[in-house]
Amino acid sequence: MRQRNTCPEAPDLLVASGVTKRYGANVALAPTDFAVAAGEAVAVLGENGAGKSTLARILTGALRPDAGTITVAGHGVTLGSPRDALRRGIALIPQELAQVPQLTVAENIMLNRLPGRYGLTSTQGIEAAAADLMRRLGLWVEPSAPMARLGVSDQQVVEIVKALGRDSRVLILDEPTAALTEDEATRLYRVLDAQRAQGIGVVVISHHLEQVTRFADRLDVFRDGSRVLSALPSSTTPSGLIAHMIGSRGAPAGPARSRPTAGPVVLDVADWSVPGRPGLVDVALQVRQGEVLGVYGIRGSGAGLLAETLGGRRRDVRGTVTIDHLPPAVLTSPGAAIRAGISYVPADRKRDGLVLGQPIRTSAAMLVLRRITRWGVLRAEAESAVARSYAGRFRLRHASLGQPVGQLSGGNQQKVLLTSRLAADPRVLVAHEPTRGVDVGARHEIHEALRALSDAGTAVLVVTSDVEEVVDVSDRVVVIRDGRVVAELVGDAITQDNAVHHAAA
Ligand SMILES: Nc1ncnc2c1ncn2[C@@H]1O[C@H](COP(=O)(O)OP(=O)(O)OP(=O)(O)O)[C@@H](O)[C@H]1O
Ligand SMILES: [Mg+2]
Repeated sequence: MRQRNTCPEAPDLLVASGVTKRYGANVALAPTDFAVAAGEAVAVLGENGAGKSTLARILTGALRPDAGTITVAGHGVTLGSPRDALRRGIALIPQELAQVPQLTVAENIMLNRLPGRYGLTSTQGIEAAAADLMRRLGLWVEPSAPMARLGVSDQQVVEIVKALGRDSRVLILDEPTAALTEDEATRLYRVLDAQRAQGIGVVVISHHLEQVTRFADRLDVFRDGSRVLSALPSSTTPSGLIAHMIGSRGAPAGPARSRPTAGPVVLDVADWSVPGRPGLVDVALQVRQGEVLGVYGIRGSGAGLLAETLGGRRRDVRGTVTIDHLPPAVLTSPGAAIRAGISYVPADRKRDGLVLGQPIRTSAAMLVLRRITRWGVLRAEAESAVARSYAGRFRLRHASLGQPVGQLSGGNQQKVLLTSRLAADPRVLVAHEPTRGVDVGARHEIHEALRALSDAGTAVLVVTSDVEEVVDVSDRVVVIRDGRVVAELVGDAITQDNAVHHAAA
């Protein structure tokens, strides 16, 4: 058992009193108090849109509060910018990452460090320093890789390494483990433990109740912009926490697996290969009508690549995909995948999923647009109907359906992205990390929606690095490792232990 190393008398390092943020009539953060002491780890929990990122951004100078005060080590401060906050030792690892895509991993990690101080003048010097730092932290991404080529989870690792490499007094991490595997999350928490032992205050925003309950000294729950609970982990239960998060609306039901039905094969993938590392080597799989097939693999296993290639995101893919015994489909562009009947939910919603300036209404109905257009003047109304039905189901926290998607919180953007793909009623749905960043309640609703779609006859493929998700949602599971299918799990063999064992062996 890990020792809690918080001293009860430790002075608060960072304190916010009465901080408030409004967007028009929309209250993102009601007058709220928050504090973290030296050597203390605080977890911030709450539904999508509860105000967690807003608080984090206010504490780190990325956003100016409408009212309230902030003190650092007892001194009142005005944090005018993230640079301002960094100077006072407060660092943020944001939920939505912001790196420079033209640079390499090493350059991004060492960015904004004083040149000369580490002898960082040559490419090799920069790469060696970044490699050294990553080795010490136990997190690894190839230092010479260009950022533009990384998947979202590798990008997140880079961001974490970047912040941990700075000499900060308070570290605020906004959903740092959303894109990490269980092992990587464990390693990250170990790294954060070491930081805490050195007197660093750590704030972690997360939807993984189990992980943060193990890690944190205190759990702060937010609902509708207010802190509604601040408690010791030992005095809480998961259901108690969820009740505080969702208020009076009632707890979500537990997962219920529907009967696997053996319909005809809808999607048949054969000899599916992509060069490189991670690549894919002769992957073969089938999805039957009315079945949810889970594809599980850790970061870098090739599982993500399988999803991307089925979504038409790679030109260098070889092999055949047959849908409904039609002639083999060519999937070398996103448009080709759509024409073949595949609807793809990308893991990276910012890069190729959503247009952030577009209203919720239009975004949600994006792929049904062609059908809706035929109804002419009714189009706006039909769009709204699609958006409204899913908004209720997925607890979308929004001001109006005309609001731009970019104004929504991260998890709520994910809900809109999913709506657009589900509503299109496709022949095949390939959902890549469908619930990343989504809160516990909505996650269950999304899994139910995926099942309902499969019950209605769509072949559903859920590609995920989240082992809990793959076990919850799948009728059958395929495990990918080193670019190959290494196991197939059915019935009672679908367990987290089995999936993890095959993925890591
Ligand atoms: N620029 C903006 N304009 C209007 N509303 C905004 C804007 N930015 C944030 N909001 C609203 O503020 C509220 C709180 O958002 P915030 O990002 O803090 O939520 P969160 O708790 O971090 O959620 P998630 O778990 O989904 O990340 C949301 O309802 C969001 O729509
Ligand atoms: Mg957020």
